[in-house]
Amino acid sequence: MCGIVGIVGNHDSRNYLLNGLKSLEYRGYDSAGIAIMENQEIKNYRVVGRVHLLDSEIPSLINTSLGIGHTRWATHGAPSKRNCHPHKSNDGLFTIVHNGVIENFQEIKNSLREKGYEFYSDTDTEVIANVLEDEYKKTNSVLDAINNALKIIHGSLAIAIIFKNDSENLYFAKRKSPLLIGVGDKTNYLASDALPMIKTCVKFIDILDNQYGIIGEHDIKIYQDGVKQKAKYTTRNAELLNIDLGGYPHYMLKEIEEIPSCISRLIDNYFINGKYCFNEEMIEKLKTAKCVSFIACGTSYHASLIGKHYMESIGKMSNVYIASEWAYFPKFIDEDEIFILVSQSGETADVITCLKKINEFKTHPTITITNTKGSTLERDATYSALLYAGVEIAVASTKAYNAQVSLLYLLKSAIIDDYNASKKLLDNNILLNNIIERKDEIKEIANKVKDAHNAFFLGRGLDYFVAMEGSLKLKEISYIHSEAFPGGELKHGPIALIEENTPVFGFISNKDIALAIRGNFSEVKARKAIVYSFVTKENAISTDTFVMDDFDPDLSILGSVMTSQYLSYYVALLRGNDIDKPRNLAKSVTVE
Ligand code: F6R
Repeated sequence: MCGIVGIVGNHDSRNYLLNGLKSLEYRGYDSAGIAIMENQEIKNYRVVGRVHLLDSEIPSLINTSLGIGHTRWATHGAPSKRNCHPHKSNDGLFTIVHNGVIENFQEIKNSLREKGYEFYSDTDTEVIANVLEDEYKKTNSVLDAINNALKIIHGSLAIAIIFKNDSENLYFAKRKSPLLIGVGDKTNYLASDALPMIKTCVKFIDILDNQYGIIGEHDIKIYQDGVKQKAKYTTRNAELLNIDLGGYPHYMLKEIEEIPSCISRLIDNYFINGKYCFNEEMIEKLKTAKCVSFIACGTSYHASLIGKHYMESIGKMSNVYIASEWAYFPKFIDEDEIFILVSQSGETADVITCLKKINEFKTHPTITITNTKGSTLERDATYSALLYAGVEIAVASTKAYNAQVSLLYLLKSAIIDDYNASKKLLDNNILLNNIIERKDEIKEIANKVKDAHNAFFLGRGLDYFVAMEGSLKLKEISYIHSEAFPGGELKHGPIALIEENTPVFGFISNKDIALAIRGNFSEVKARKAIVYSFVTKENAISTDTFVMDDFDPDLSILGSVMTSQYLSYYVALLRGNDIDKPRNLAKSVTVE
C-alpha cells in the first residue's frame, strides 16, 4: 500500500507534492512526509496522521526543483514519527520513499549492522536506503548501486530516491508495486498512479518490474540489469479528471449515487448497435470453457460469487477463490478452465500473485475485470474488460461492485447470445433510482441501529451473497462487529450470539426462498433480535422494513446491495466516523 510521489523541474513542487499525496491518501493515511532538495541540502518534513498536517510543517515558499513524498499504510513499525518516510541512509547520501514490502529486510539489516550501519526506525525502507549507500560506496555510481540493490533486496518496491550529490535528478526503481512517470513541460513527475499527475500530464510511462532509472527535467532514462530500456508510453482515462466531490459531503455517497450512470456507461461501451463488443476471442474462449474460475478479494470476491451464479445458470462449472488462499493452494480443475480475476484497482497484490502463477503454467487463459486501465492485472492477463466506473475514491467500494456484477451479467449474456441483457440492466436502473430517491428511509433505519455492538446479515441463495457484502461494508466503515450467514445456518451455532435488540438485516429478492428465510427471521425475533427486512414487492408482507420494486432476482440484488451501502454510509455518518478513510484500511492493497 502507501502512495509515493516525486517531481523534478520548474513546476510548483510544494503544490504538486502536497496535492499529489492528498490524491494518493486512499492508499494509506497513517503518516506522511516530504523531502526536498533546497540549496544543495535535503530537507525532510514528516508528520504522523493525514497529509494536510504537512501543510503547516513546510514553509510556504520553498526553493526547490526536486522533491519526493509519501503517504503511509504501516506494514513494518507503528505509525510514529520515527517510522514516517522519507528515510535516509546513515551518511545521508540517499533519501527515499517506498511502497512495498521487503521480505528479507531483517537478514539484510543484520548484515548491515555487522558492517557498522545503525538503524533509527522499525521500517524495511530504511534498509533499502542503507543498501543503496553501501553499494554506492563500492561502485561510485547511483545507477549501479540501484541495480545491485535490486538483486540484494527481495520483495516488492516502488521507490523514489534523492541522491545528496545530485540536485538535478530523481532516481527510481520498481518491482511488483506500481510506479508511473508523468511527462510534463520542463518538469517530470513520478507517482504510484496517475491521479496526482492527471491535471498536468497527458503522456505517461509505465515502469515495469525490475526497471530503474533517472529522471531529469528534460530527460528520462530507464534501465534493467544495466541495459537501457525503451520507454513504454501510455495515456490515461479522461474519467480520472472527475475526482471532485461535486457537492456531495463524501465520496462514498457520491459513488453510490453514480451507480445507475456507471451501468449505463458499461452498456455504452460493451453493447453497441444491438451487438456485444467484447474482445471476440475472449468470448469464444468463454464459450468453449468448461469451467470458469474467479479469483478476487473482499468486495470483488463478493461480486465474483454472483458471477459464479451467472456462469452456473448457463451450464458452466464455476468456482470462486479468495486470492490470498488460491495463491498458496492453487487449484486447476479442468484443461478447459478459464480464470477471471476481478479487481477494482487492478493492483491487489494477492490477485497479482495468482495471475503470475497461472501465467507461469502457460496453460490457462485469464481475463481481468478491473476499473483501472494500465494496471498490473490489466496488463498481464490474456484479456481484460474495463469497468468504466470512473475513479472510486472512497475506501469502501460501492459503484465498482455494482459495475463488476453488471459486467459479469453482460458477459454471461454474451456467452449465450442473449441480446436482452442491456435492456434488462437499464430497466433495473429504475429500481436503483427509486432507492436513491428513498435514501432518507434508510437513514431512519440507520438511526435505529447506530449504537449496536453486533449486527447480523441474513440471506439465502443470491441474497446470502448480498448479505456478505452488506456485512463487510457495515463493519469496515461503522466499526460495528457484523457477520453474514445463510439463513439456514443460524441454528447450527451463530444463533447463540443473538441477544435482545441485536439488529438482524435480512434480504429477500427471490420467492423460492422467501418462506424459508422468513422462518429464520422468526427464530431470531423469538430471541428478541430486531429484524430489518429489505424485500422486493412480490415477496413483501406488511411488517417488512424496506420494500423495493420487483425485478429479475439476478439483477434486483444490485438494488439490495445498494440499500446495504446506504445503510453502512448512514450508520457511519451518525457515529461520526471518517467515512471515506476508515481506520486501518487502504483502498489499494498492494502488499500480500
Ligand atoms: C471493501 C473493499 C475491499 C476491496 C478488496 C479488493 O469495501 O474495498 O474489500 O474490495 O481490497 O480490492 P480490489 O477490488 O481493488 O482488488
